[in-house]
Amino acid sequence: MYRNFTCGALRMDHVGQEVVLSGWVQANREFGGLTFIDLRDRYGITQLVFNMDDDPKLCKHAQELGREYVIQASGIVRERSNKNPNRSTGDIEIEVQNLHILSASKVPPFTIEQDSDGGDDLRMKYRYLDMRRKPVKEKIMFRSRAAFEVRQYLTKQKFLEIETPCLIKSTPEGARDFVVPSRMNPGQFYALPQSPQTFKQILMVAGFDRYFQIVKCFRDEDLRADRQPEFTQIDCEMSFVTRDEILDVFEGLTKHIFSILIDVDLPDFPKMSYDDAMRLYGSDKPDTRFDMTFSDLSDAAKGHGFAVFDQSEVVLAICVPKLSDQYSNKDINKLTDWVKRPQVGAKGMVYVKWNGDGSFKSSVGKFYSDEQLRTWCEIAGASPRDMLLILSGEKDITRKQLGELRLEMGRRLDLMDPHSFRPLWVVDFPLLEWDPEVERFHAMHHPFTAPKTEDIDKMLKGDHETMKSLRADAYDLVINGAEISGGSIRIHNRALQEKNFKLLGFSETEAEDQFGFLMGAFEYGAPPHGGIAFGFDRLCAVMMGTSSIRDFIAFPKNNMGRDVMIDAPSPVDAHQLDELGLMMKPQ
Ligand code: AMO
Repeated sequence: MYRNFTCGALRMDHVGQEVVLSGWVQANREFGGLTFIDLRDRYGITQLVFNMDDDPKLCKHAQELGREYVIQASGIVRERSNKNPNRSTGDIEIEVQNLHILSASKVPPFTIEQDSDGGDDLRMKYRYLDMRRKPVKEKIMFRSRAAFEVRQYLTKQKFLEIETPCLIKSTPEGARDFVVPSRMNPGQFYALPQSPQTFKQILMVAGFDRYFQIVKCFRDEDLRADRQPEFTQIDCEMSFVTRDEILDVFEGLTKHIFSILIDVDLPDFPKMSYDDAMRLYGSDKPDTRFDMTFSDLSDAAKGHGFAVFDQSEVVLAICVPKLSDQYSNKDINKLTDWVKRPQVGAKGMVYVKWNGDGSFKSSVGKFYSDEQLRTWCEIAGASPRDMLLILSGEKDITRKQLGELRLEMGRRLDLMDPHSFRPLWVVDFPLLEWDPEVERFHAMHHPFTAPKTEDIDKMLKGDHETMKSLRADAYDLVINGAEISGGSIRIHNRALQEKNFKLLGFSETEAEDQFGFLMGAFEYGAPPHGGIAFGFDRLCAVMMGTSSIRDFIAFPKNNMGRDVMIDAPSPVDAHQLDELGLMMKPQ
């Protein structure tokens, strides 16, 4: 027997018992004739003690053990004289009688501690060592519990877990596909799924009315802290349901796992239209942990001789509470430089300080009277001591820039507590998005999303301009400014699906080649259906109060999309390429 207890199990109740433990040497220290070893496994750390006076040979053996050696120790549990209240096993220690080395270890390239001294790439290369560290280990364990709870909840709600294939044809979710060459069909490729979208719809046509899958998705896109090329979705689809029934089920799921896993009771999720989110926050994933919503000063500020505002489509402000005393001219200049960075791209920033004594100070004070500045402050709901930060220009661009500035002020003023959760549904997204550069519509969610019922006629009969105003029954779940999930009611009728492909610039042949199977299925009794997919990695990260998803994935890719542990991607040999029909022929 390697062990009869784990390193996290022993308490005062066990004092006097003979036990066998196995694990890794976390630390080894000597203290006045005693040697102490911290023995670690997945469950915790237990202190082993060796006494030079009792058994010098065994004690010397213990002193020779290096960090990360794997050992087995047996002995008697005893009460510690010097207890450690920070450890669950801190009341006891093991007086060791037998010790075996099960596996030696080289000196690890970084410390296996809470805060490692290893850089990112080193930690990724030795991911097995990194995962021995408590913060990474806890995230991986959290993820496993979350997956279990999701399965239980959905299974109880009559969802069936059904697997869909990984070698498929492209599904357009807006990113590039990873492709896989087919040896048996030279010159032809599978695509790895960006999501199981078309398959889950086909499962509805097949009659499985409630489907879910915790599933890997693959998207070849630029990486960020909250994006991986290979990530996991909780993918779901339902038949014979309205939008609100779908939102209810998944609000229920979200509340359940927050409650079970982190003991947080989420409030009911408010719904905000896409238009309101853009108007008030300049973002379709607003962080509602703090207010600072936008106020439109266009009418009040234009037409008074300040050319920058006069030439702008909109003049928008946020009111930052209590900032007028805190921010000096130097701070304001620095903030102006911040909004001018290419990542934000504003041309400049105007401020109005409403001072504590009732006076006003503004960078555009010479163009506007105090009375006018007061009116702006009133429009923005400001009080004395508050400060308005104002950007102007083309509507969509200014909203986006002010949205960035709002978040930056939230960060600077510490208004984004990672352990306070503000969920909301953003609903009624536009169906189509016009891309003036390529002069084409893109599907705002994906091409299978249905227009709202009241817009179907407009979609079938309307002109080009009408198409820009179509709304979809599409929704996103946003928590603390992160898009946690997205979904929609789907088209389930061939004519409407054909029309959508046409609007998206597909020729009839292209639509048939790529999605004939789906439109064909719609001709054999397709139920009305809709669904949603959660970004599972993101959900875990947000619950644990972080935006980085990397440590919730056991083997993530780095910023260049590389797995540095196995060194992938890597070249393949000429023979393999030849077999796949991918050998470059000499010209
Ligand atoms: P969507 O493209 O919105 O919808 O994806 C659903 C959710 O998946 C997460 N996500 C990602 N997480 C990590 N890394 C990525 N690269 C990444 N890309 C997306 C996000 C997102 O909200 N088929 C539709 C769903 C549906 O309509 O039912 C879909 O995939 O949290």
